[in-house]
Order: sequence, then structure tokens, then C-alpha cells
Amino acid sequence: MTSTPPTASKSGGSRPVAFLAVTCVAGLAIWWGLRVAEQRALEEALLPYAETALPAPGAPVDAALADVGARVFEARCTGCHAVRGQPKLGPNLAGITLARDLPWIRSMVTNPDSMTRADPIARALLQAYGVPMQVVGGMDGSAARAVIEFLRRADGGV
Ligand code: HEC
Repeated sequence: MTSTPPTASKSGGSRPVAFLAVTCVAGLAIWWGLRVAEQRALEEALLPYAETALPAPGAPVDAALADVGARVFEARCTGCHAVRGQPKLGPNLAGITLARDLPWIRSMVTNPDSMTRADPIARALLQAYGVPMQVVGGMDGSAARAVIEFLRRADGGV
């Protein structure tokens, strides 16, 4: 039987690695905690708007709702859309509330799957962009309503 010689201690070299790992895990935990907190705060901010209907054409922008919509846009849309500037995976959305009916936008936001299957405009967009629009976790009516108010404000409040 041969016994393996004891290996030299490397604890001096592994300490910075352990420190780095702990820092990474702590950073991730803080990032995740902040994300969950913002998600909860956003859900709470949306609660009063659960029954809010789409506005009549020309109705003044509800600034508080548009502010909540800006947070929804930041959390759920900016991965693929900018309002203006360099287009991302999806089209820029400046002027969208002038180009399309609000019910159409709401359907696109809450049901992109069936829109890109059945609606001719959405189908053409899918062909042009080659990426199916997908909002992780889906969008309920109040989140869609808020983001539409944000887009209306960006378009000058139509
Ligand atoms: C995964 C990427 C992705 C995310 C996230 C996403 N979209 Fe899209 N969106 C697209 C793509 C790509 C298109 C073009 C149609 C297609 O290819 O399915 C599109 C199309 C649209 C359109 C139609 C644009 C036009 O010119 O008529 C609207 C409106 C829209 N998205 C709004 C939103 C909003 C609001 C959000 C956030 C709630 C969102 N999208 C999240 C990728 C995305």
C-alpha cells in the first residue's frame, strides 16, 4: 500500500477566491432582494388601476398612471424596446399611440402570441423583426393600461 504524501496547504491562495465568491453571492442576494421589492411595490402601485378603462381619444394624460407605466416599461419592455434612439430587438415605440388604436396596442401587449398569429399587422412585424415578442410572466390589464399611459405621454398625450 502506498500512502499519498500530504499536499501543501494552499489556504493562502484560496482566501481571495473565497472572498470573491462570498462578495458575488452577497451582491446577487442584494440585487435579487431589490428586484423583488420593486416588483411588489409596482404591483401595489397598479392595484388602484385594475378597472381603469382605455382613455377616450384626446383625454388628458393621467400623470400618476404614466409614472407607474414608466416603471412597468423599464422593468418589462426595455430589454427589447426603446422609445426612441437605436432600435433594439423590437421596434422603437415613439409615435405608437398615433400609429395604432389603443385597443390594438393593449392586445399586442397582453397577447403577443395570438396577435402575431392572427393579426395581419402583428404578423408582418414578426416577419420583419424575426423575433417573437414575449413578456416574461405576462401582462395583466392594469400593467398594460399603465404602460399605454406612459406611451401616450411620450407621444404628447394623444
Ligand atoms: C422579447 C422581446 C420583447 C419584449 C420583452 C417586449 N417586446 Fe414588444 N415587440 C417585440 C418584437 C420583436 C416586436 C415586433 C413583432 C414581433 O416580432 O413579434 C414587438 C412589437 C411590439 C409592438 C407593436 C409595434 C408596432 O410597430 O406596431 C408594441 C406596441 C410592443 N411591442 C409593445 C411592447 C411593450 C409595451 C412591452 C413591455 C410590456 C413589450 N413590447 C415587450 C419584442 C418584445
